[in-house]
Amino acid sequence: MAGVVALFSTLALNLLCLAMAFDHSPLQDFCVFDANSPGCKNPGTVTADDFFYSGLHLPANTSNPYRAGLKAARIPGMNGQGLTLARLDFLPDGLIPPHYHPRAAEILTVLEGSLEVGFVKSYPNYKHYGKVLNKGDVYVVPVGLVHYQRGVGNANTVVLSAVNSQNAGIVEVAAGIFGAKPVIDSNYLANAFRLNKGIVEQLQSKCWS
Ligand SMILES: *[C@@H]1O[C@H](CO)[C@@H](O)[C@H](O)[C@H]1NC(C)=O
Repeated sequence: MAGVVALFSTLALNLLCLAMAFDHSPLQDFCVFDANSPGCKNPGTVTADDFFYSGLHLPANTSNPYRAGLKAARIPGMNGQGLTLARLDFLPDGLIPPHYHPRAAEILTVLEGSLEVGFVKSYPNYKHYGKVLNKGDVYVVPVGLVHYQRGVGNANTVVLSAVNSQNAGIVEVAAGIFGAKPVIDSNYLANAFRLNKGIVEQLQSKCWS
């Protein structure tokens, strides 16, 4: 019974956090990020270039074990607008490990190639909603749910990803557990994941960051 109460308290807390998770509405037309001062750039000196970025025609760096890369459009004028935009590149079989964004939903548009994407609904039934997307297809991943992406087919895959937060946050599921520092007790993890302790320690010894 205590366990059930604790579980529901946690759920209630999660709901509370979700209710407060979205970016605040701006109280001014814009607040252009200024690297040289803590506040907004003086509006009198703001120009069109403060809302501009060029570079998403160039691929992200995919020279890593996952064979996938992310390149964000960094635009000073996006500050405070509750948005982030990025290009994702996948070599064939390139992938982004399972992760979630605590503060944003994500919308994915396939520009080239094919992408397998899926997310998992929360407790209690963990239903998996997965799909293979082709050029021109769009998919939404709801806020806070575990999801994954993988390039499929023989060609490279290019995806435009937008999230409705300036700081969506990324929690990689495996890294967030097995890469935690200081380490989470391996006996606990072995029991929690129903794994052999040796496998847990092997996972913990990998480089996750
Ligand atoms: C791509 O990433 C790898 C691994 O981090 C790095 O060694 C390499 O210099 C990067 N390439 C470019 C063009 O930035």
